[in-house]
Amino acid sequence: MTTAHRGPAAPRIIPGDVLEAVALYADRLGVFGDHIHWHAEARSTNDEALRMADHGAVEGTVVGADAQTAGRGRRGRAWASPAGAGLYVSVILRPATPVVPLLTIAAGVAIADGIREVSGLATVLKWPNDVYAGSRKLAGILAEAGGTRQGSYVVVGFGVNLLPGAYPPDVAVRATSLGGELGRPVDRGLLLAACLAALARRYDELMRHTSSVVSAWRSYAASTLNRRVTATVGARVVTGVAEDIDDQGALLVRTSVGVDRIVSGEVLWH
Ligand code: BTN
Repeated sequence: MTTAHRGPAAPRIIPGDVLEAVALYADRLGVFGDHIHWHAEARSTNDEALRMADHGAVEGTVVGADAQTAGRGRRGRAWASPAGAGLYVSVILRPATPVVPLLTIAAGVAIADGIREVSGLATVLKWPNDVYAGSRKLAGILAEAGGTRQGSYVVVGFGVNLLPGAYPPDVAVRATSLGGELGRPVDRGLLLAACLAALARRYDELMRHTSSVVSAWRSYAASTLNRRVTATVGARVVTGVAEDIDDQGALLVRTSVGVDRIVSGEVLWH
């Protein structure tokens, strides 16, 4: 495991909770246990991981932070990242085949797997990969692709809310936390290690055959399927019934005129 790199934000020594859990899960982490970088505070671990990937960081590099000052969510939204109140982590992947939409599906499954393993909590995935407990969002994933002459990469960043009462009021009304759901604290290091182990497994599955990741996604998302949705795709608004995802990870929405294949967009469940 290495902690040294050059760049704007100086990484610090890996915190004890992370170190202990990574040692415990060592045989399940694959490349995700080899290069872990940790920050007391980062602007965004995705920004840091993108910068490192641009400079050639290897597949499996993990960047975590105790707090983010400019945590980012999908569609340009902010991701509230108070110190010690959540898990904020980004991972660099260099997939041999172009699988970005399915990677976002696989990442959602992995985070739901990791949460279930450590806490026993059964979460629900909303397309493509928002992790919900009941009607409130518990975790989110931001996948961003890039490339240099050395090759292309995808940074998968995930944030899991851990502590109740740590979030600004506008976030608190629609979000929940693992601690809030369980009524007891959850070990951040163990959650990280379980999520990384699940990511190692789901990524490997995805590279070999896509069907098991897609069927795992379907079982986490079952309660969100066959429900009415409105999807906004640029200037286009599609209203219908969310039936399934296809083998590329696109959401299939049945409308009055047929089935619309949503590759990216904002989906609202009625
Ligand atoms: C979303 O649901 O909108 C995605 C949220 C992703 C948040 C994580 S926290 C770690 C990583 N760094 C970021 O700036 N964003 C992701």
